[in-house]
Amino acid sequence: MSTLPAPPTPSSAATRYAAGVIGHEVPTEEQRLHLLEQMLDPDTIRTLERRGIQPSWRCLELGAGAGSIAHWLASRCPDGQVVATDLGTTFLAARSAPNLRVLRHDVVAEDFPLGSFDLIHARWLLVNLPEREEVLAKVVTWLVPGGWLVTEDLDLFPVDSSPHPTLRRFIDAFEQLLADSHGADFRWARRRLPAALAEVGLVELGMSVSIKHVGDGSPDDAAYRMSMAQLRSGLVSRGLLSEAQYTAGIAPLDDPAVLDAPLANIAAWGQRPPS
Ligand SMILES: C[S@@+](CC[C@H](N)C(=O)[O-])C[C@H]1O[C@@H](n2cnc3c(N)ncnc32)[C@H](O)[C@@H]1O
Repeated sequence: MSTLPAPPTPSSAATRYAAGVIGHEVPTEEQRLHLLEQMLDPDTIRTLERRGIQPSWRCLELGAGAGSIAHWLASRCPDGQVVATDLGTTFLAARSAPNLRVLRHDVVAEDFPLGSFDLIHARWLLVNLPEREEVLAKVVTWLVPGGWLVTEDLDLFPVDSSPHPTLRRFIDAFEQLLADSHGADFRWARRRLPAALAEVGLVELGMSVSIKHVGDGSPDDAAYRMSMAQLRSGLVSRGLLSEAQYTAGIAPLDDPAVLDAPLANIAAWGQRPPS
C-alpha cells in the first residue's frame, strides 16, 4: 500500500503571516488586496511587458494574493503555463484560465524543480518575509538560464520627507505593527534592491520606483485608506497609536488642500545568465 507524502510543515514565517493583521482570515483582506491591485497593476504590467514576455513562457506568480497579475500573465502566455501560489488560495478561486494552475505553496518551506520557469514575479511578498534573502537565493534556482525574476516591494522612504508630522507618526506606527505582526521590513527594498539580485547571480539588472499619493481620491488613496482602516484596531490595541492619533493621521486626507506621497513601489529585475 502506498502512502501519500506528509504535507510540508508551514514555515514559522507563513504561520505568523497567516495569523497576522493582513492574513487572509481578516474579513476585509480580500477587498484590500483588490484595492492594492488597482493601485499597482498598471506599474506591474508596464514592468513585465518590458521583459519581452513570449506566448510560450512558463511563469510563476509567487504570493499571488487575489490573482490579477497571475490572470494577466495567463492571457499573455496562451501557449505556456502560469503557476500562481499563495499560503491561502481561496481568493484565487475566481481566477480561472486553461493555462493557470493555482497552488497552495509556502515559498519559505517549499520548493520547485531547478530551471522550471522563464519568468518569476513576486509583488509585496519578499518585504513581508523575514527570510527574504534566503528565499531570493532559492527562487533564482527555479529560473531557466535566461529567465527573469521581477520583484516589487513596498518601501516607506518617501514618508521621511513628508511635511505632515501626523502622517509621519501614523506611518511609523504602521511600520512597527507589520514588523511585529510577521517580520515585515518596509525599508528593505530601498536598502537592498537591486543589489540583492546581483548577489544571487542575476545580470541585466534594472529598477523602477513609483511614488504613491494619498489625499487625492486616486486608487493609491483608496488602497491606503482601506489598509489603515483594517489596521486600526491593531494599531490602537497594541498601543502604537491612540484613537486621537489615529484620527489625526487620517482626517487631514479629507482636506482638499492636503495631499502627500508617503509610499513607494520599488520594482527590481534581473536575468539568470543565459548558458
Ligand atoms: C501583500 S499581499 C500581495 C498580494 C499580491 N502579490 C499583490 O501584490 O496583489 C502578500 C501575499 O503573499 C502571501 N504570502 C505571505 N507569505 C507567504 C509565503 N510564505 N508563501 C507564499 N505566499 C505568501 C500572502 O498570503 C499574500 O496573499
